[in-house]
Amino acid sequence: MSARVEGVGLVNEFETEAKAREIIELHERYVLGTYRRLGPVLGKGQGTEVWDIGGRRYLDFGGGIAVNSLGHAHPALVSAIREQAAHLIHVSNLYYCEQQGVLAKRIVDLTGAGRVFFCNSGAEANEAQFKLARRLGAATGRFEIITCQNSFHGRTLAGIAATGQERFREGFGPVTPGFRHVPFNDLTAIERAAGPETVGVLIEGIQGEGGIHVASAEYLLGLRRLCDERGLLLLWDGVQCGMFRTGRFQSFQRLLEGVPGGEAFLPDAIAMAKGLGGGYPIGALWVAERHAALLGPGSHGCTFGGSPLACAAALAVLDTVARDGLMENARRQGERALSSLRRLAAELPAMVADVRGLGCMVGIELRVEAAPVVSALAAAGLLVVPSGKHVVRMLAPLNVSDAEMDEALSIIAGVFRATGGGAIA
Ligand SMILES: Cc1ncc(COP(=O)(O)O)c(C=O)c1O
Repeated sequence: MSARVEGVGLVNEFETEAKAREIIELHERYVLGTYRRLGPVLGKGQGTEVWDIGGRRYLDFGGGIAVNSLGHAHPALVSAIREQAAHLIHVSNLYYCEQQGVLAKRIVDLTGAGRVFFCNSGAEANEAQFKLARRLGAATGRFEIITCQNSFHGRTLAGIAATGQERFREGFGPVTPGFRHVPFNDLTAIERAAGPETVGVLIEGIQGEGGIHVASAEYLLGLRRLCDERGLLLLWDGVQCGMFRTGRFQSFQRLLEGVPGGEAFLPDAIAMAKGLGGGYPIGALWVAERHAALLGPGSHGCTFGGSPLACAAALAVLDTVARDGLMENARRQGERALSSLRRLAAELPAMVADVRGLGCMVGIELRVEAAPVVSALAAAGLLVVPSGKHVVRMLAPLNVSDAEMDEALSIIAGVFRATGGGAIA
């Protein structure tokens, strides 16, 4: 079999298999085994499609786990990175650079009056908001942050302490103090848990790693009210559900659309990363203007944060989303996916327990384990990722086409039907 894709480059299936084995062996011998890898050795991507090194095509609905907002090799992103790299890749934050200032303004324009700290990842953006909260609380002896069960906030020591899933903490004790977990979407639980040492509450608008659970509008509005009454910071983890994934820049803007009082809702800080750079690493923490002075000179920093290259990539993503109407596309594709999957759920009640999400962030809760179903879908040409134990997560790029979405939905329907409602195990 000839390799069919330009740039993949191998000539026959024997060479391809040997090359794939060689690459896998390199990983097994030299890469720390923190990831249980799902399969293909990928060689090339274009839009929503990726090819393994043998030229086998997949639809990529994992999107690098909600990162590739414009799909693979988008020309606007490629040329922004190329051009910026030829001028200035990195400068220290001891100096000014145009791209960082412009990007900060764009994020503020999309969010609300405030300021932005730049870093490289979601975990770092959350660390910055933990430090913001501790700074606020330091004067009054408050340090505790309430987070939700099933949440995910990153892999640093404070990130795993904040994360509401015990398995991420196992073997890494002693746990960083100052985090307490309560059920999601339960305002009374927060009211009860908040004590004299509590300084803030941290939530995701849609829990991405915990099974695609969506915050209700009443919860969000109640939370804002509660935080105002008790002098608590409302901290927001928009790392996965933000960056236009739900059809608005941040998920609360979508979740509160048309809800009385919803337009005025704003957290005190918002962590961003993943889709912000479309695949180029960049993280950011937006901080409301009234709290911005808490992190002054010397209080926090990040060598690579907000480099001209990372900011140029993020600006290309923001420009492309606006120019190509990708918020509207994400919203429309989400509605198409949800209605098709809900029909499938009604047809296969023994296999599908629930379908939920918004825009290009959709979860299918199964009555069987998700991991073998994810493998079966990959074998059928569709890459998706599990979320928790029972949820299959679809994270299509924001520019996914009707035809690609239809193809993905038909692969899912075919694999689910073929399993006879739960035969994969
Ligand atoms: C909601 C949320 N917060 C934080 C993180 C951590 O981001 P990163 O892996 O970039 O550190 C993730 C990653 O999956 C996430 O989904």
